[in-house]
Amino acid sequence: MLTGSIKKVCCIGAGYVGGPSMAVFADNCKNIQFTVVDINKDRISAWNDDDFKKLPIFEPGLDQIIARTRGKNLFFSTEIKKSISEADMIFLSVNTPIKISGLGAGKASDLKFIEASARLVAEEARGFTIVVEKSTLPVKTAETIKSILFSSQTIKNDIQIDRKFSVLSNPEFLAEGTAINDLENPDRVLIGGDDDDSIEALSSIYENWIQKDKIIKTNLWSSELSKLAANAFLAQRISSINSMSAFCEVTGANINEVSNAIGTDSRIGSKFLSSGPGFGGSCFKKDILNLVYLCSFYGLDEVSNYWEQVILLNDWQQKRISHLIIQNLFGTLAEKKIGILGFSFKANTNDTRQSPAIKICKDLLEEGAELSIYDPKVSMETINLELTNTSISQDESKFSNEKITVCESIDEVAVNADAIVLITDWPLFKNINWDTISKLMRKPSWVFDTRNCIDDVQCLKANINVWKLGVGILR
Ligand code: NAD
Ligand code: UGA
Repeated sequence: MLTGSIKKVCCIGAGYVGGPSMAVFADNCKNIQFTVVDINKDRISAWNDDDFKKLPIFEPGLDQIIARTRGKNLFFSTEIKKSISEADMIFLSVNTPIKISGLGAGKASDLKFIEASARLVAEEARGFTIVVEKSTLPVKTAETIKSILFSSQTIKNDIQIDRKFSVLSNPEFLAEGTAINDLENPDRVLIGGDDDDSIEALSSIYENWIQKDKIIKTNLWSSELSKLAANAFLAQRISSINSMSAFCEVTGANINEVSNAIGTDSRIGSKFLSSGPGFGGSCFKKDILNLVYLCSFYGLDEVSNYWEQVILLNDWQQKRISHLIIQNLFGTLAEKKIGILGFSFKANTNDTRQSPAIKICKDLLEEGAELSIYDPKVSMETINLELTNTSISQDESKFSNEKITVCESIDEVAVNADAIVLITDWPLFKNINWDTISKLMRKPSWVFDTRNCIDDVQCLKANINVWKLGVGILR
């Protein structure tokens, strides 16, 4: 395959990765046609909606790119077979959740969506097709994909079908909330493979906007493992700083000062040292669990236990926050109203998957609290589903909607609240007028700031008790 010969690209999976990444590809490669396909018809209609507010994903800057590219060289479609058959290159960008039953349940990746996509590609592709793993996958998944693709029929109804494949790994490192910038200016692009021509074909697409020296080429297994390792290292830093936050609270040290002091060491670096209510998001937990599973599968129990501790610490951080709230509110939340600020797993996204808000809210509801919740981008339906719907939470639903009010403003959250818990660091929460809020709350009033982002001086002046993560109760 000659560099520059890719004319049509298909991406299977129109989610948080498939949508934004193909939009940025299309924006930078005008002579290639990108079609993003999905089995979810509603999602595809949302991607095609004229009202950009209805795009299925909120990501700063995404709507402008969609406006520039959609209908020109970027298409969203449910015609999966057609798009596969026309494509020179196919990205597999489907979800890879944790298995919920069977062998490896609770830890191993469920590869049913990847396998289904690979089988369809094996059936429908024509000519030479480069198949690219974009989803995050267990090491050695390319072997499974190859075995499905390479065993595809080349003679059907006595007709010879011209069909050949090459498999590459090209994991995605974007973070939600900064996806567009991450895709436009990545620290690196990683391409793993064993066929130099295919690697060059994919590399040449990226070279339309990314410097060549940022494109790292490795073997397939290094590429697959590097993605899991990168997420594990990032999550490990968060658990490390969160462990220190608890230590700060009992000793009088201040986590912001500690973060700053260690982060100025150039060997440590300052990024990913913000303590908080534990990492959320669809990937850190699942990818580490997958790493834990793979390590023990290969008999590396010590390595497996080492990484599992990152998750245990994260779960503990969320639990201890709810305990602290309960303790400070005289040991019971019955007949109390708690305001929750922020429900997405981080600022600048509407994604709530594995959000720390879910666990903390469930703990508070369990204690009998009534919750009023405000998030600037998460819908009432999503909040209710996450807290009450069994199929979404995979948890027995014990809470009725009567205990949960989804609000439209910070003020509404504060009315008669005994406490406000800040869980997501949306920028607008940094400028709250605590004087106004204090007047709306029941006394004694509390603010629990799990992100260290409120103006605590103003909050104290407004006669509100303040607890800050990694600092403790302010006096
Ligand atoms: P997602 O759930 O938002 O999207 C996946 C999409 O794939 C869904 O819309 C689903 O309907 C579709 N799909 C599943 N099976 C299909 C099939 N057989 N045919 C067509 N469509 C199918 O998931 P996501 O967040 O975009 O993540 C996708 C992958 O990328 C995962 O492996 C994830 O670990 C990885 N990843 C995610 C992020 C992130 O920020 N979300 C970042 C880097 C890597
Ligand atoms: C993360 C990685 O950063 C991406 O590189 C990766 O591609 C992606 O996972 C993935 O594989 O899905 P994402 O989960 O979108 O991206 O967001 P992050 O910015 O990493 O935040 C994850 C969680 O950690 C959030 O809950 C965030 O609030 C928390 N966090 C992050 C902290 O508590 N402290 C920090 O210093 C940084």
